[in-house]
Amino acid sequence: MSGPTAVELIERKKRGGELTPDELRGFLAGYVSGAIPDYQVASWLMAVCWRGMTGPETLALTEAMVESGETLDWPEITRPTVDKHSTGGVGDKTSVVLVPLMAAAGAAFVKMSGRGLGHTGGTLDKLESIPGFQCELPLDEMRAQVARIGAALVGQSGDLVPADKKLYALRDVTGTVDSIPLIAGSIMSKKLAGGARSIVLDVKWGSGAFMQTLEEARVLAETLVRIGEGAGRRTRAVLSGMRQPLGRAVGNALEIREAIDTLRGGGPADLWALTLELGSQLLELSGLAPDAATARARLTELRDSGAGSRVLEQLIEAQHGDPRVVNDPALLPSAPVVLPFAADAEGWVATADARGIGDAALALGAGRRTKADPVDPAVGIVVRARIGDRVSAGQPLADVHARTEAEAQAAMDRLRAAFQLSASEIAAADDAYETVG
Ligand code: URA
Repeated sequence: MSGPTAVELIERKKRGGELTPDELRGFLAGYVSGAIPDYQVASWLMAVCWRGMTGPETLALTEAMVESGETLDWPEITRPTVDKHSTGGVGDKTSVVLVPLMAAAGAAFVKMSGRGLGHTGGTLDKLESIPGFQCELPLDEMRAQVARIGAALVGQSGDLVPADKKLYALRDVTGTVDSIPLIAGSIMSKKLAGGARSIVLDVKWGSGAFMQTLEEARVLAETLVRIGEGAGRRTRAVLSGMRQPLGRAVGNALEIREAIDTLRGGGPADLWALTLELGSQLLELSGLAPDAATARARLTELRDSGAGSRVLEQLIEAQHGDPRVVNDPALLPSAPVVLPFAADAEGWVATADARGIGDAALALGAGRRTKADPVDPAVGIVVRARIGDRVSAGQPLADVHARTEAEAQAAMDRLRAAFQLSASEIAAADDAYETVG
């Protein structure tokens, strides 16, 4: 690296100074090539955690991360390209509903997703509960699929943003994950490298989310949108609550079943509301609808006509899965033991804690504690009472779908802590969305 040494850059950040785009590019390139060692990058990361980054510096970091690997573009696609990212939560199966609907509305939507870790689920694990479904597709096969049906639901290509993979692994073991510029750079580098022109970000807040408070989520959302706009993409963020799970189902096949149900006009109201919110933002951003009201009407019509479910069938078939699950969800794996978890008193539901319910599903085998753990597609929790509901003693608050009765009982111990009842009335917690951008 010419110019300042790595130590000088670390020192400057330690004192609260700013690195230039060229310096950041050189520093990251040195890290990815192995010329700059982990311990210097770890030191710089900690300095960023304490000192933060300016807006231009955060954008430069993100662009330098994008430049560390390959990028996708879509010259053969005539449809507007769109993308979405959720900062993760419990029961979030929105992409499975949104991607087919957006394709039915005329967009090209290549959704690259990740796997679950800890209490949060991952879209790839959910999709793989569909018999035969493949998330890893050769690039030319995926391109042909997007040109034909407008949608793909796949894993992140290994060649995009290698700097993020290396940095994230280092942040994970050096206590440097929770920095807004680092989180924003990590998320947006992957979105920019994916090549879509319009991007919507679902930034979650609450116990089940990365950001615990609405205020923190707002700062992250503003940072994400500034990066997207700075890089020339039409970008908006929606803040959505994650104090309780999204929808009812938590667990892979259970969530696919709920997503299909929602795409077919049933399903929980909150899942459909979020799908409509994110979808209408994308339709407006990409110019496929003139305003939010038209966009919402169009998405609802595509759901009601069955056009969205037909795209999901085509997508599953193209990705080697069994498309019959869309009309016959009984073909999805199911757990041998299903037991109700009942309220021990009457009252109002004060908490249906997303984190606690996610942990109960994880303990059943629906998620993984370490990256190498297998997941059980069939098990999970179906929540039957939401914050603010009035329940009587003995009324089921959730159903536990388990491999064995002993595992179901162990999950119930966790659910006991997640559901708290109040003797006095509690308001419903359908948190209003806030839009940034
Ligand atoms: N998600 C990401 O992709 N990166 C982060 O740093 C945090 C959450």
